Amino acid sequence: MGMHSKRFPDNFLWGGAIAANQAEGAWNEDGKGPSIADVSAEGVQGPVDRDVMENKYYPAHEAIDFYHHYKEDIALFAEMGFKCFRTSIAWSRIFPNGNEAEPNKKGLQFYDDLFDHLLENGIEPVITISHYETPLHLVNEYGGWMNRKLISFFQKYCEVIFNRYKDKVKYWMTFNEINNVHVIPFAAGTIKPVDGKYDLQTIYQSSHHMFVASALAVKACREIIPGAKIGCMLSLSGVYPNTCHPEDVLETYQLRRRSLFFGDVMLRGKYPNYIRRVWKENNVEVIMEPEDENLLALYPAEYLGFSYYRTTTHKAGMPIVGNTGGLSGIDNPYLETTPWGWQIDPKGLRLTCNELYDRYQKPLFIVENGLGNLDTLNEDGIVQDDYRIDYLNKHVREIREAIRDGVEIMGYTWWGPIDIVSAGKGEMRKRYGFIYVDKDDEGNGTLKRSKKKSFEWYKQVIASNGEIVE
Ligand code: BG6
Repeated sequence: MGMHSKRFPDNFLWGGAIAANQAEGAWNEDGKGPSIADVSAEGVQGPVDRDVMENKYYPAHEAIDFYHHYKEDIALFAEMGFKCFRTSIAWSRIFPNGNEAEPNKKGLQFYDDLFDHLLENGIEPVITISHYETPLHLVNEYGGWMNRKLISFFQKYCEVIFNRYKDKVKYWMTFNEINNVHVIPFAAGTIKPVDGKYDLQTIYQSSHHMFVASALAVKACREIIPGAKIGCMLSLSGVYPNTCHPEDVLETYQLRRRSLFFGDVMLRGKYPNYIRRVWKENNVEVIMEPEDENLLALYPAEYLGFSYYRTTTHKAGMPIVGNTGGLSGIDNPYLETTPWGWQIDPKGLRLTCNELYDRYQKPLFIVENGLGNLDTLNEDGIVQDDYRIDYLNKHVREIREAIRDGVEIMGYTWWGPIDIVSAGKGEMRKRYGFIYVDKDDEGNGTLKRSKKKSFEWYKQVIASNGEIVE
């Protein structure tokens, strides 16, 4: 891509993104073991059961049954002209408990079929290796990522999938929204609260294990699939200072850096100086093996995949909370807000792209952006989702501006191109799709798919390589 390009590059990867646990269903079919998503009845922000309880409704168990509908769904993605499709491999389909000696053949076969089908339709698979779906056994029996043993289980899983899919998958990402260990610690890092609190020692120690696991995945990927690209993935919705008071500005900067820290380690290959002070002041002591820091330096992630949904504002001293969309501070009076309280900020995406490229000088991949909203079918059975079209257009325009600023962007995958289970609270009524799925929050519905108004529009956005939004 030439610098200051006025348009989207010809090889720009337009597409959509989902996660296995929010779409596939078939939670215990063909040998799959339970993952943490299978015991989260109220979504990743809610309470988690230790095991699957009988007669309890878990949205992930059936989800939209993508496991049995993927051919039909991919036909619709192909009709929209997708160049790529991001999904995750459900780790517990491949290793049901996470620690078996041999992988589950039927699980491997499912993804072979899925990837073949995507490729036959001219769609590149973009694969997240772990998207909020760690095998439950690794949490119950090993204590999750706090236990260093998980590194070797993950390493084995990676080697198996790289060898198996080396001719099919060229784009990989290790841990979905790894920086969300601070915001949704259980989903992102299998970290449970102690006495209602999350301690920073556990958060940083578990993160360290994930960093090493990620570096080893980069190493294995380079060895097994030369020419593939493997990135990290962070949640990077933005945060502004609520006022120009220097205290607010400084604290907001530090809060942003709490997230960028994960990119600093994974993309620059080194723990940054500022973290030593954070650790010292919070009595954090991260235990490392002698070779760890060397691995981080030798095998950094090659691109930065990130999600961007919204922005918020922060005031010094206020409590720091968030959810799947990022931090939730004080509302910004200049922005519109969705029914879920997410503030729409397209210009913030241009800003974020510039911020990240200035800092890392590595390609960016916008792997999640989208609008979760209430949709109603009209009499003709169509959702007139002009609000979604508007959100899409405004964000695509700003991505184009970022490209003109000189930022290298590999692609854009709309979150939830087909309605799926929302991660945060396990809802179906929070819909992101260009394709409607007939299913409600109680699990009723025919699972029938139908095109929304935005379907045709996204098709034109892709066909025009983004030009139509001008
Ligand atoms: C991101 C996750 O946090 O946000 C997705 O990677 C999630 O899994 C998405 O679905 C949107 O959040 P929600 O809660 O609206 O589904």
